[in-house]
Amino acid sequence: MKLPYVEPYKTKMVEPVYKSTEGQREKWITESGYNLFNLKAEQVTIDLLTDSGTGAMSDRQWAALMTGDESYAGASSYYNLKNVISEITGFSWFLPVHQGRAAENVLFSVLVKEGDLVPGNSHFDTTKGHIEFRKAVPVDCTVDIASDTTLNAPFKGNVDLEKLERVLKDNPSEKIACIIVTITNNTSGGQPVSMENIRSTGALAQKYGVKFFLDSARFAENAWFIKTREAGYADKDIREIVREMFSYCDGMTMSSKKDAIVNMGGFIGFRDEETFRRASAFNIIYEGFITYGGMSGRDMNALAQGLYEGTEYEFLSSRIGQVARLGSLMKEYGIPVLQPFGGHAIFIDAQKFLPHIPLEEFPAQTLAVEIYIEGGIRSSEIGTLMADRDPVTRQNRYTGRELVRLAIPRRVYSDNHMDYVAAAVKNVFDRKDSVRHGFRIIHEAPILRHFTIGLERIV
Ligand code: F0G
Repeated sequence: MKLPYVEPYKTKMVEPVYKSTEGQREKWITESGYNLFNLKAEQVTIDLLTDSGTGAMSDRQWAALMTGDESYAGASSYYNLKNVISEITGFSWFLPVHQGRAAENVLFSVLVKEGDLVPGNSHFDTTKGHIEFRKAVPVDCTVDIASDTTLNAPFKGNVDLEKLERVLKDNPSEKIACIIVTITNNTSGGQPVSMENIRSTGALAQKYGVKFFLDSARFAENAWFIKTREAGYADKDIREIVREMFSYCDGMTMSSKKDAIVNMGGFIGFRDEETFRRASAFNIIYEGFITYGGMSGRDMNALAQGLYEGTEYEFLSSRIGQVARLGSLMKEYGIPVLQPFGGHAIFIDAQKFLPHIPLEEFPAQTLAVEIYIEGGIRSSEIGTLMADRDPVTRQNRYTGRELVRLAIPRRVYSDNHMDYVAAAVKNVFDRKDSVRHGFRIIHEAPILRHFTIGLERIV
């Protein structure tokens, strides 16, 4: 008999999972303005809002915390992290920052000016926010097949190279701030980008003389997909694949809260010293001196250890395997889940789940609220609310994406917890026709509105 995958870790410490009644949850979500970000953690049973900063650190990471060096300048923890980043990514210039969006803020302060274009695959919401905040334009050049949630293709996170080249050809290179490719492509369903696509994007960047950065929050999961799906990589080690991915670009932004399995932290990696020097000035203003930049010494130590653990094949197989197991169960129940399953999350196609709820009533948010009421499961909307309004017309941006994301924290929940999640979603699916209406907006922020939006039920 083939032995099943087994998690390459076991539990040393636990924390409670909070139970509640459906009546309590109805009350809490109403008080929260139907915004899942407003719920208190104790009001949530299984928290799949995000896989960011929610992972369980290992005993080795906790041990590394204890040996953190808190010197303001030149801490040993900084040099420890610098060495590990250089070994894993190949970038010898780096700046620590407190999280991924801080990396975007510092890097874009150097690269992005008003009127610029930033092409790539789908930009994550904070990336888009930082670009639009500077009155520049993110250009989504993701392959068209990404919007077909049922099509089974191995690299639906890819950049459409023709679309990208058109943007590069039709605009002077000074207008292209840089190319940003997000690995894996979170917004389009945690879908990977192939090595071939990264290589070709790098070649286009060189041809047109523009910089190319990888938004690398889930770079290790991307490498695992390359190993398991792309011809020629099956026998390569994850770290070898990682180094090759980064060899084609000029640098990276990193939210370490995902694949480096820490609760807070991030960094920017640079190939060239000049961009590093220019970014250093902004790092000092926004984050902190260049040898700590928003992180304490202990956190840099834990991050260095996390980079090793997050790039282990065994760990990635069990992590991505757990996500796929949840996806398969939901598929078995007939729930319209995005396929292939993403690396960090299962995405439900809300337009297929609730076809009678019009886009103007936010079907993905409607479904996320129902899943919370049913089982106390917190998910997130990747749809019209997250897409924000068009900065010029101020109309809702209907991107064709109405997804509910169930993001799985690393090393936190058991398969049994996942069975509970699948059963709760199935119960909502069985009563979907009783969900008559969605929501209208009561108040919203001008940018990144989904975090703080207030909604009311349409009755
Ligand atoms: N890039 C990607 C691809 C991300 O998924 C995120 C965060 C960021 C950048 C920003 O990093 O949160 O450390 O500032 N994603 C989280 C999520 C929040 O839930 O997907 P951050």
